[in-house]
Amino acid sequence: MNNFNLYAPTRILFGKGQIAAISQHVPAGARVMVTYGGGSILRNGVLDQVRQALGERLVAEFGGIEPNPDYATLMRAVETGRAQHVDFLLAVGGGSVADGSKFIAAALHYRGEPWDILSAGGKVESAVPLGVVLTLAATGSEMNAGAVISRRETGDKLFFSSEAVLPRFAVLDPSTMFSLPQRQTANGVVDAFVHTIEQYLTYPANAKVQDRMAEGLLLTLVEEGPRLLAAPEDYEARANVMWAATMALNGYLGAGVPQDWSTHMLGHEITAVHGLDHAQTLAIVLPAMLAARRAPKRAKLLQYAERVWGLREGSEDARIDAAIDATRAFFERMGVPTRLSGHGIREPRLEAILGKLEAHGMTALGERDEVTLDVSRAVLEAAV
Ligand code: NZQ
Ligand code: ZN
Repeated sequence: MNNFNLYAPTRILFGKGQIAAISQHVPAGARVMVTYGGGSILRNGVLDQVRQALGERLVAEFGGIEPNPDYATLMRAVETGRAQHVDFLLAVGGGSVADGSKFIAAALHYRGEPWDILSAGGKVESAVPLGVVLTLAATGSEMNAGAVISRRETGDKLFFSSEAVLPRFAVLDPSTMFSLPQRQTANGVVDAFVHTIEQYLTYPANAKVQDRMAEGLLLTLVEEGPRLLAAPEDYEARANVMWAATMALNGYLGAGVPQDWSTHMLGHEITAVHGLDHAQTLAIVLPAMLAARRAPKRAKLLQYAERVWGLREGSEDARIDAAIDATRAFFERMGVPTRLSGHGIREPRLEAILGKLEAHGMTALGERDEVTLDVSRAVLEAAV
């Protein structure tokens, strides 16, 4: 196991009715801006619960943060926050609202052009404190330091990370997800699955706790994900998936082990160029990525085959093939296509995607830096 430094201070308020508990964790006298997306929280009653819990502390509401939150929208929220002298942000929604709010929190304190935080490594020293009421289990943003922001004007989708934007608390009430459309439920399961894989399916580091935690999360998602498609109001299944998604990207799995993230980096560029949902891109890239890198990932692919898919018979190569096939079949069972053509994209804009990868310095990805632009090209070609 490698050395690690893990800091995961976010308080988790988990379960039915926990939105009311935020009143104990937002400072009395705070000036709170609630940030949200396209309106699902108005329809499912979540915003009413939030208003009630905040009472007088609620001074502004900013809605309209879109999936793959856009820089221009977020900068409008920064203006609102400034005008209202906001000193606490409460993000209510999925990963896009959480990420967008982290950026707003950082930009409110940032001296200089906030886009530099994303494009030029601008350091975020401090931020307005924020909490999250999560309504879509997927990204893990509610308990981590990262945020992914898009800029449609330039076709960029970029990432920043800072301890200053770690949420102070996150409310995880599984029943808020009863209203999710099937596509978003499926996206969440696939995203959490791929987060786990990116930190697990690399090369052995003799990290038994992390490996078995990862395998436990993968097995949970395989078991409970399909159940949610059949029974969207199954509270227990929602609870298991919600906690799995948080655990998949709150730092614990990736501590002390090699990490990959190449599937995500390719996926972000596909979203920027073709507009697919984040998880849709992952379901397309991952099977092709695993097939292309079966040699360097051989030992872990065999472990994954055995412990997650119960594949113990046949030659090593046959088991690896079967594990990759099982992964693809699982995504398809969730209703998420595993090829670009499944979304009607038969001629992907390969040069645009590869050009952005190059411009963003994504030319040596993966746990051993072996995913060059040539490898990315081959993966994308295999994913059509
Ligand atoms: O906007 P509203 O009306 O709320 O509708 C949303 C949105 O249309 C809807 N939704 C959310 N909760 C709902 C609901 N609809 C009904 N009932 C509910 N309870 O779902 C749609 C998608 O929401 P979004 O927040 O975009 O989805 P997700 O949570 O998958 O977030 C995706 C974003 O997170 C980034 C992605 O790149 C993408 O931009 N990621 C962030 C990461 C991080 N911070 O660590 C890591 C991830 O790998 C990922 O890159
Ligand atoms: Zn993801």
